[in-house]
Amino acid sequence: IRHWLGGRSIVLVGLMGAGKTTIGRRLARRLGLAFTDADTEIELAAGKSIPEIFADHGEAHFREGERKVIARLLDGEPQVLATGGGAYMNGQTRAVIADKAVSVWLRAEKALLMKRVRRRSNRPLLNTDDPDAVMARLIEERYPVYAEADVTVDSRDAPHEAIVSDVVRAL
Ligand code: S3P
Repeated sequence: IRHWLGGRSIVLVGLMGAGKTTIGRRLARRLGLAFTDADTEIELAAGKSIPEIFADHGEAHFREGERKVIARLLDGEPQVLATGGGAYMNGQTRAVIADKAVSVWLRAEKALLMKRVRRRSNRPLLNTDDPDAVMARLIEERYPVYAEADVTVDSRDAPHEAIVSDVVRAL
């Protein structure tokens, strides 16, 4: 696979709870590539957590930082890069990813996404009275765009390593 990648990175896209970070970390280990999490890099660059960036500067500011950080990361060594759920919705980011990487959409059903995000309160978009409705709207808006990724893998309710194997097979 590394030969086939020819110096390109692997970028994981998909909704919150799709497993981009968890699967990405394990995929990188299996392929002997570095792993990077775009959200973590944004937090490092800003010196603040994502909820703080949203609260202090607003979502538009976060999106601009996200775009820059992803462009910078993909300018570096080949890696497995987990992106935040909204990153791939930016047209410039999609173009950079198409240029420098193979994109993988980790697709999952709403019930599974909700089950996986329930434990974590660090996602400002879901910090509302009706996170279920927000997730439903995000699925409607984003799935047609995520479908532009090179490869789609079903992020099913299975052990992480099984999903990693599905990704490796799909590449
Ligand atoms: C977001 C997803 C989050 C994070 C931010 C916004 C989104 O990343 O970037 O809270 O718009 O879907 P994860 O998908 O890693 O949770």
